[in-house]
This record gives sequence, structure tokens and C-alpha cells, in this order.
Amino acid sequence: MKKITVYQNESYKKLGDLYGLFFEDINHAADGGLYAELIQNRSFEYCEIDKQDYTPLTAWDKSEGVKWDVISDRPLNKENLHYLHVEAEAGAYISNAGYNTGIYVEAGKKYDFSVFVRADKESVVSISVQDAEKKIYALDRLVVEDTKEQWKQYSLTLKAVGTSYEGRLVITFEETGVYEFDMVSLFPQDTFMGRKGGLRRDIAEALMEMKPKFMRFPGGCLTHDGSLNDKDRDSMYRWRRTLGKVEERPTWRNNWRYNQTLGLGYYEYFCFCEDIGAKPLPVLPGGFNPHKGEGVALESIGEWVQEALDLIEFANGSADTKWGSVRAKMGHPQPFHMEYLGIGNEEIGDGFFERYPYFHNAIREKYPKIKIINTAGPFAVGEGYDVGWESAKKYGSDLVDEHYYSSPEWFLANMHHYEDYDANGPKVFLGEYASWGNTYYNAIVEAAYMTHLERSKAVALACYAPMLCNVDYVNWKPDMLWFNNHEIMKTPNYYVQKLFMENQGTDAVRFEKENLDEVIELTDTKNLVGDIIIAGNDIEGKIWDVTYTAQDETKTLSDIEICDNTEHMLYRVEQDAEYSLEFKFQRSAGRKGLKIFFGATTDSRVQWEFGGWDNWDCNIMSLVNGRGSTISHRIFHVEDIEYVLKLEVKGREIKTYVNGVLYNDTVDRLPELEELYVTASTDEETGNTILKVVNLTGEAKQVQLVLEGEEKHLAFVNALRGCALTDENELGQPQRVSPVTEKQILIDNTLDYTFTPHSVTVLVFA
Ligand code: AHR
Repeated sequence: MKKITVYQNESYKKLGDLYGLFFEDINHAADGGLYAELIQNRSFEYCEIDKQDYTPLTAWDKSEGVKWDVISDRPLNKENLHYLHVEAEAGAYISNAGYNTGIYVEAGKKYDFSVFVRADKESVVSISVQDAEKKIYALDRLVVEDTKEQWKQYSLTLKAVGTSYEGRLVITFEETGVYEFDMVSLFPQDTFMGRKGGLRRDIAEALMEMKPKFMRFPGGCLTHDGSLNDKDRDSMYRWRRTLGKVEERPTWRNNWRYNQTLGLGYYEYFCFCEDIGAKPLPVLPGGFNPHKGEGVALESIGEWVQEALDLIEFANGSADTKWGSVRAKMGHPQPFHMEYLGIGNEEIGDGFFERYPYFHNAIREKYPKIKIINTAGPFAVGEGYDVGWESAKKYGSDLVDEHYYSSPEWFLANMHHYEDYDANGPKVFLGEYASWGNTYYNAIVEAAYMTHLERSKAVALACYAPMLCNVDYVNWKPDMLWFNNHEIMKTPNYYVQKLFMENQGTDAVRFEKENLDEVIELTDTKNLVGDIIIAGNDIEGKIWDVTYTAQDETKTLSDIEICDNTEHMLYRVEQDAEYSLEFKFQRSAGRKGLKIFFGATTDSRVQWEFGGWDNWDCNIMSLVNGRGSTISHRIFHVEDIEYVLKLEVKGREIKTYVNGVLYNDTVDRLPELEELYVTASTDEETGNTILKVVNLTGEAKQVQLVLEGEEKHLAFVNALRGCALTDENELGQPQRVSPVTEKQILIDNTLDYTFTPHSVTVLVFA
């Protein structure tokens, strides 16, 4: 008989704030997403620095009878320089197309319109939402005063008489005149918690329903990819510039190649965290941009450190402190009780790590209770990862922010990733992770991995990434929650995160499995046999003196002229378990280096990337069905000189040498399945006991569940099951994969339960 016994009184780990969210303004997650503003380019600030094809008139249109220009002679304020100058004939109009297919208005709902205007005489303009066929969904009239010399803000409420996903905001001039407009804004009144100028209700509620314990924000690469000067258009994300009245905030280039209005700024992030019950976890740039290898001079690092200290005062200081009073003035006299602060986001190289201690020491000294988060690069292993951990241990960081995006097979092969981590050192903050894909299979593999995260004493926080994606502005996928201008789609990955988050518990408790220890291997191929292929990585060059050695026999292979990214078949390894490849290489043009594929079959291959990611890496990546997982990382910059490169393969062990020096040394582990993935917890607030069980096998598992300790009578079951592994949700089909619920009765603290094939089951015993 298969059996799981849960020892309800044997806590071995406080679960604390384990499961949370990561918000990055990527995929138009903020503007055109969570931030409910319906007007795109509301302040005519778009420009080609944000995105090559942007102009100050992007998303705007005009009818005949309008002469217009975007100018900046007499701006609204020093942050908002551009405005629209219009010379209009009576009956002419200008319009804004919003995001996606247009502006979404819903019959019966109200919308707050506002605008800053200067006009050459008192006149009437009509404000409406119309579709392309000029059907009107909402309409009102605005009397603008003769205010040639100064800006005046007007507002009115539009009530929608119909529903459209393709609306345009239309401003029609009833009289000929000269007008100037800035900050043209339209917000639904039906925002999250009814906040004026607030957040999109459906998205915000879907996040709140997950019951996250924390939220990391505002990015990602968004925080550190930019110029060091906070006045620059393409500045890094500098929190102090995102405060105050929205019309007085700058708008910036978003590093994901669009514009960010900063309407959703630091104050709003803190308020949102508070509203959804998530602890705020902001991430600040550490004065170093790894994308450009550019850092602030150490003599000036003090200003950056001060910015971090100011943020803590802004969040936690009383209303009579300098920054606490800014918060109070914005409407929140009470502190936000921030506990965590991240410095840096997956930076690699000395540039960051020589700056980190300045932040760390100053924060520790002034705010010893703040938990400081260091960073460990973009991969689950390697040089960047090790340097991050060494720095964290050296300075005593509370947590280390780890990021990795990998194939489901990597997750299956690395379930025990954190098994040997020191529970008494800095804790793991898995600040970004996902398996490549939004299928049911991806989600249930992530669920299995989460059972191990929950059980590891070294792991303190974890959040899936990225969180949001507007279907019409995709920078990155997979993502947890997708949306267009009027509906959202919760992915299977969302449901897994939600199941684990809302059923986290306060204490992980011991359990025992009986007759459930079978480990199922998923592949028969043990060795890295298959093709060896070479390609350039945006370079030209040549390789020569190429030899392949196996079983003491060396074969000479042909030289190759490398041109662009063309793949060259070098050799087919039929059955050698141990082999090596050696050759000379010199680049003659381009910035990066080579890709050397080996073990290449129809669905998998391993890649040695020599001079990858902007010529920073010497990596080994394992690819399954095109989905890559980095299994070794070293920093390396390829130059235009001669190299001797050597690859050694032994079973699944891989070593690379550059000029005789060992660079990569790793094992491409094979995926395997545990018979059941299990974790158990108790919740001291509710008194409930929670059992999470993931069955990744194709077989039903009949198991006797036994609770040792307090008596429980009922099990509330929440499960994902009965789906095909390839199933995905879609807009229009958002429920294809979604949880089912049921109730079970326990007899003598025992329940016989069948875990269906490919299922995630959460049982809450009460
Ligand atoms: O989550 C998307 C990106 O992945 C993040 O911006 C970055 O931190 C990571 O490389």
C-alpha cells in the first residue's frame, strides 16, 4: 500500500513570505496593462529613443481641417515639455487610439476624462468615444475658456451608452480656433478598489486573489538597463523621479523598447502591495549597468547609496521625516512597513560587486532590520552565480536573488538543486523563474519544483516571472497572466502559483512516504551521441586544425570558413561515450564568437557558446525541443586573436578548454520523475494542515493519507487535473485549464485518495 503520513506537530521550517509576485514593466505590463489609463501617449512625449518608430504623435490622428504640431515653447512644466498645438476649423477633430484594438468602454460604466488646455477664445469642444465607423459610445461637451497665457485643467465624466473594444477618444472642435493640449487622460471609474487614476480592476484582482506574500518591483532588466544620469530619457529606473503629480513626472524610455509614463510609480507600487496584502520588495539599481558594462564612479557612489536610504525613509519614515513627508503629502501618512530591499538585478562582473558593499554597509548601519538582497546573475549555476553568492556570504546579505529560465527537462533533472545549501547562510530568493512555456505540462513541472522549494530550508522567497503580458506587445514569453484591452487569461502556470500561494501555510511539517520511492527515468539515451555542428554567432572567421578523438583514435576533420550564423556539420558521433574535439579559431569580423553544438539529435542538443550574450559568456546550454537551460557559465570576451578550443565529453560530463585552460566543467543531467512530489505544511492562524501532491506520471496513484496529531475531519481539495499535457489557456478559452474543487471526509485522520495522472492536488485538512 502506498502511504503518506503527515506529522502535524513536527515543523522543520517557518515558511514566512515564501510565495510572492514579481512585477516588471515588460510586455506593456504597466502602461496598456495594470495602469488603467486608456489614452496612449497622453502627454505627446513619445520619441524615437523609446522606440524607433515612435513620434510625438504616435497613437494620435486628425481629421481634415486640423493643422497640428507638437511643440515645447511654453510647456506644462519642466518634466512635461511637449504639447499639441492645434489650429482647427469648426467640425474638425483629433483622436487617440489607445492600446491594442482601441479604447475599451463598457455600456453603463463611467470614465473620467481630463485634459490641460490653452485656447485663444472661449469655445466648445465635444469629447466622445467613437469607433472607426463613427458610432458614438460616450459623449459630453466641454467649454474651454480663453486662457491663451496659461494652462487650465478640465475634467468631465463620460458615461458609456454602448460597449466597444475599438474606441477612439475624439476631441471635436465646434468652433474654429487655436488650442493647445497636454496630459489628455481617460480612466475608467471602475478601477481596482475604485481608486481615481488607478489600476485595471480585472488584472489587479486576479493578482490579489492569489494572496501573494510579497511583490518584487519594478523589474528586472528594467531597473538597471539604462544611463547613469537620472535626467536622461533612457535612464535606469530611479525611484525618486516617479513621485508627485502624474503630470509632473517625466516619461521615460522603457528598456523593453517602449515608453513608460511612470503613472504607475513607486508610491503606487507601495499602495498596490498594501492593497493586495503583499510585502513590498523594491529593487534598486546598484550604480552599474551590466548591459553596457558602465558604472558610476566610486567617488559618486554616495549619491546612489543615499537614494537607497531615502527609499527606506520614504517607505518607513514617519510623516515628519524628509521623505516620509513626501509619502504623506501623496496621501499615505502611515508607513508602508517595507522589510526587504534588493540591490541589483542579475548583474555579472566586478563592476557591480565592487559597488554593492557601499549600499550594503550603509543600509545595515542605518536600518539594521531591513533585509538586504544581493544578486546572483541570470543562471542557476556558473561564475556570475558563484560571485553573487560569495559576495552575499562575505558581506552577510540576508538573501540572494537567483534567476533562471529553463526547459521543463532541466527542472525535472534538478529538483534537488537546493538540497546542499546552507540553511544558516544567506537565504535563497528565487526572484525570477519559469520553465519555457505556458502549457499544462510546464505548469505541473513547476508545481513539482515548488514542492522542493517549499521543503528546502535554504529557500525563503520565490516568485514566477514575468508576471504580465499584453498580447499585442510581447517582449518575452512565457508569462503568468495575459490580457488584451478588455479581458484577461490566467495561464496554467498562474493556477499553480495561486494554488501554492493561497495554501502556503506557516510551517513546513515532516511527512513520510511509503512505497512511493520509485524514480522513473525518462530517456534511454545516456551518452551525448549525435551531430557536432559549428556556427558563427554574428561573426566571420575560420576554424582549422580540427581533430576528433575517441578510443585513442584521432581523425582530422576539414577546416571551415565561418560566415554569419550558417551551421556547418562537422562530424556525427554514432556511439562514442567519450570523445574530444579540438580546433583553432580566429574571428575576423563581428563582436561575438562561435556556437559549437554536440549531441545534436532531432529534439535535443548541447551548445557551447563561446562569446555569447554580447560577447560576455562562455556557456554550456542544454537544449530540449529548442528550449535552453544554461548549465555552465563563465565570463569571457572573445578577441580577434587565435584560440585553441577543446571540448571533452565523457558520458554526460562536459569540459571545455580555451588555450589549455579549463573553462566549463559540468554535467548535462537527464530528467527523471519522482513517483509523487509532496510537501506538507500547517497554518497556525487557521489550524489547518495542508498537503500538496504533484503526480507527473501517467498513472493514477492510490495513496492512504494519514495525519499524525490533531484530529481533522474534512479535506477541502483544490486540484488541477484531467488536462492534456499540451493544453494551454487562451483568451476566449481561459478556463480550459483551471482548478476543480471537492470535499472529502476523513475517518480516524485517514483518507484514501487517488492522485490522477498528471495532476496537482492541494488538500486542506480542517
Ligand atoms: O523576466 C524577464 C527578464 O529576465 C528580466 O527583466 C531580467 O531580470 C531577466 O533576464
